[in-house]
Amino acid sequence: MTEQLPWWQREAFYEVYPRSFQDSDGDGVGDLPGLLRRLDYLADLGVGALWITPFFPSPQRDFGYDVADYCGVDPTMGSLADFDRLVQEAHRHGLRVVLDLVANHTSSDHPWFVDSRRSRASLRRDWYVWRDPAPDGGPPNNWLSFFGGPAWTLDAATGQYYLHQFLPEQPDLNYRNPAVLAAMEEVVRFWLDRGADGFRVDAAWLLVEDEKFRDEPPNPTWRPGMRERDRLVHLHTEDQPETHAVLRRLRAVVEEYRDRQPVLLGEVYLPFHRLVGYYGSSEEPECHFPFNFALVDLPPEEWTAQALGSLVASYEAALPPWAWPSWVLGNHDRPRVASRLGEERSRLAHLLLLTLRGTPTLYYGDELGLPDGVVSPDRVRDTAGFREWGGRWSRDAARTPMPWDPGPQAGFTTGEPWLPLNPDFPRRNVQLQQQDSRSFLQLVRRLLHLRRSLPALVSGSWRLREAPPGVLAYHREGEDETFLVALNFRAQPARLELAAEVLLSTFLDREGWERSLELRGHEGLLARLRA
Ligand code: NOJ
Repeated sequence: MTEQLPWWQREAFYEVYPRSFQDSDGDGVGDLPGLLRRLDYLADLGVGALWITPFFPSPQRDFGYDVADYCGVDPTMGSLADFDRLVQEAHRHGLRVVLDLVANHTSSDHPWFVDSRRSRASLRRDWYVWRDPAPDGGPPNNWLSFFGGPAWTLDAATGQYYLHQFLPEQPDLNYRNPAVLAAMEEVVRFWLDRGADGFRVDAAWLLVEDEKFRDEPPNPTWRPGMRERDRLVHLHTEDQPETHAVLRRLRAVVEEYRDRQPVLLGEVYLPFHRLVGYYGSSEEPECHFPFNFALVDLPPEEWTAQALGSLVASYEAALPPWAWPSWVLGNHDRPRVASRLGEERSRLAHLLLLTLRGTPTLYYGDELGLPDGVVSPDRVRDTAGFREWGGRWSRDAARTPMPWDPGPQAGFTTGEPWLPLNPDFPRRNVQLQQQDSRSFLQLVRRLLHLRRSLPALVSGSWRLREAPPGVLAYHREGEDETFLVALNFRAQPARLELAAEVLLSTFLDREGWERSLELRGHEGLLARLRA
């Protein structure tokens, strides 16, 4: 049964932020040859696919999310030959390679934009979104950018504003021009021809904006401390019908390679009822799955059995019957799960991630229980961190180098790391956790291997079951076996009156048949139920 499922349903994904994973040449920045050296580790961990965030030539204003050439490799990351070797070796290790398709915008250094900005008569003028100033000379409307300030920047030489949902150095492409979509389709083919196994479409819910450029209304629920951009309700800059048409076309290109089952994933931050629109329909599919960030967005104080039970149930209920779920605990844009929840609850969160129905995506370092790094304002490199939070917080905290061993520079580089190492790296690193049978790493590894060996955890149904207060419990029911997952979100012990074979505790200190299941405070169990 499970063997019949496509690989992207069977396997867990692992997000690699390549700048911070493994450096190979001593410049303090991770690179593709470095990643290549760590494939043994990843294969042994038990993940089946790597999603690698952008490594294309880029001025690095947003660390690769500002692409200056879609069909190359940035020199700090290696070369195209390094990419080819990486794909070949990854495949040999049983690992698929998924790339980041930064489709919404390019770098302002991209030759397309350089040409577009040159003159109003440029061949590629219309590849980007240009508008005349408002009558007072200001921006054409009130739209705001993600990283602070208006979503428009004036190009003095040609007297028009261009649109950027992110930094001014990330001008938005104009998908109302068919040539733009055709160019992006070629990018997809370029990498699929080189052996890539699919794409995660960056900012997939933002690809097209309102044709009439209407102002967005004020957001009555905005409060200080929230993002500046969220002063507005994004009626006209998010989730436009035309965006779905673009995704359908990208999916059609991916389908040209269907014998290899490449995957199209989407970055979509929307509530469930709108998120599910990004699957498209069974006749006109879009993403194989849009990432589901509900567990990333759930505030730490709301990690209760009750809130989580209803969150999972409402997601399951929102999905069309043929749509495949996705679960995520963290990524390179958000505070790390270990910092949000603390170590014990973070162990529970990983049991949840790896036993819910759907494809789990892990974020590098989270398998060590790695907390956010300490990046003082003078070390902040994330432009968005400066623009939005004045350097007091930045995404760098979740992007610090992977701690491999207790040696110099944590084994990440022989040079000066581009971001500071986490201060606890001598105690929290891969090497030590590999030797400690109860470490966070061993928990994640055990779970990944159990997930592979127990088909019900992949293809079985999901159903909530009754449990004492504070305990989230559910069944995964396969053809021959049923498993129970019970997570105690309280510090007090709890008991489930049922006999089961414990396969794993989040404390990694018990296994075997038990007549009734006693859960210690903040303990989670995976157990096989008697047939
Ligand atoms: C989402 C990416 O995850 C983020 O890192 C980036 O800054 C924006 N999209 C813009 O590309």
